[in-house]
Amino acid sequence: MIIKSLELSDFRNYENLKIDFSSGTNILYGDNAQGKTNILEAIFVSATTKSHKGSKDKEIISFGKEEAHIRTILEKDNAEYRVDMHLRKSKTKGIAIDGQKIKKASDLIGRLNVVFFSPEDLSIIKNGPSERRRFMDMELCQLDQIYLNSLSKYNKLVVERNKVLKDLFEHPENSVLLDVQDKQLCEYGSVIIKTREKFIAELNEIIRPIHKKLTGEKEILSVYYEPNVSAEDLEKKLRASRQKDIYAKQTTVGPHKDDFSFIIQKNESEDGIDIRKYGSQGQQRTASLSLKLSEIEIVKKAKKENPVLLLDDVLSELDSNRQNYLLNTIGNIQTIITCTGLDEFVNNRFEIDKLFKVTDGTVSSEN
Ligand SMILES: Nc1ncnc2c1ncn2[C@@H]1O[C@H](COP(=O)(O)OP(=O)(O)OP(=O)(O)O)[C@@H](O)[C@H]1O
Ligand SMILES: [Mg+2]
Repeated sequence: MIIKSLELSDFRNYENLKIDFSSGTNILYGDNAQGKTNILEAIFVSATTKSHKGSKDKEIISFGKEEAHIRTILEKDNAEYRVDMHLRKSKTKGIAIDGQKIKKASDLIGRLNVVFFSPEDLSIIKNGPSERRRFMDMELCQLDQIYLNSLSKYNKLVVERNKVLKDLFEHPENSVLLDVQDKQLCEYGSVIIKTREKFIAELNEIIRPIHKKLTGEKEILSVYYEPNVSAEDLEKKLRASRQKDIYAKQTTVGPHKDDFSFIIQKNESEDGIDIRKYGSQGQQRTASLSLKLSEIEIVKKAKKENPVLLLDDVLSELDSNRQNYLLNTIGNIQTIITCTGLDEFVNNRFEIDKLFKVTDGTVSSEN
């Protein structure tokens, strides 16, 4: 699967834009605040319906405008198809594939698989549990529609349940609602927990060899799932924490409190260290890079095709060893890279198929 072209209107700082991409390596370069990341964001939105930054549609639409459009032409197995997105300030977005409207945004997921890599991703391990959950969720939602639906239902339920808990003092009659909500929380929550469990097992198979290579065989990296509660115990624990939840006015048990640990060993016989707490900055960043590189392999395996790789200003964050490793991994994957200068590519004798200069909401092709 590749992206052949992208068209934008009234999207962030682009009034009108059309870019034709190469199926190989595409570089977008330009000064700060010119609109490089905005292009990657547009591609991410057309793949996942959501912004990689978690921005709302009304923030993405150009200042002073009411709506924005994104059109991507994709190519798969020699056939082309067109994805149109219509973002509106106060309504949900409209999506059409080849002119046919689709009913649910989730029907789009999985058609175009992208891996987005930004400098902040190098802090996944250093940051808090919510960042790590966000990473796992973003990945799983692209791969598994049942997970996507369960997660969005589960998250909505937690918000609703918390609201009931907050208002319970004034509306004690609402306590019956909690019983209904708890039943549904268990239904969707256990899907989330079981899917995360399976995903982490698969991730370990892939991340280990990658991390070994990245560290010159010096480190063994393992990822462990730390569920707040097991799928089997969810119902029981939710019931047991009811009083505590009423007191705290929030849901204190469930997969929205999960975390993932990253353990590094020097060899198989040695105890590992939890690098969230004890890792050096370099160890944390390298493990984060291994995690992102695994994402590419996971998509390849699950979808039997290459994802499109979006690298947002990330190469300048890596030393030359890590850069080379990343660039070698890219191989024949379609890649769209942003950077402020071109030196790093020249230094790496890097093959550039298409070069674009981004200046204040305009993009010009330089080859
Ligand atoms: N909704 C919006 N409408 C219009 N312009 C916007 C909107 N949101 C962001 N912008 C503008 O987009 C520009 C930032 O674009 P972007 O983040 O793509 O820059 P960049 O080229 O990636 O810069 P850097 O190199 O600093 O990362 C800013 O000038 C910002 O004001
Ligand atoms: Mg940027």
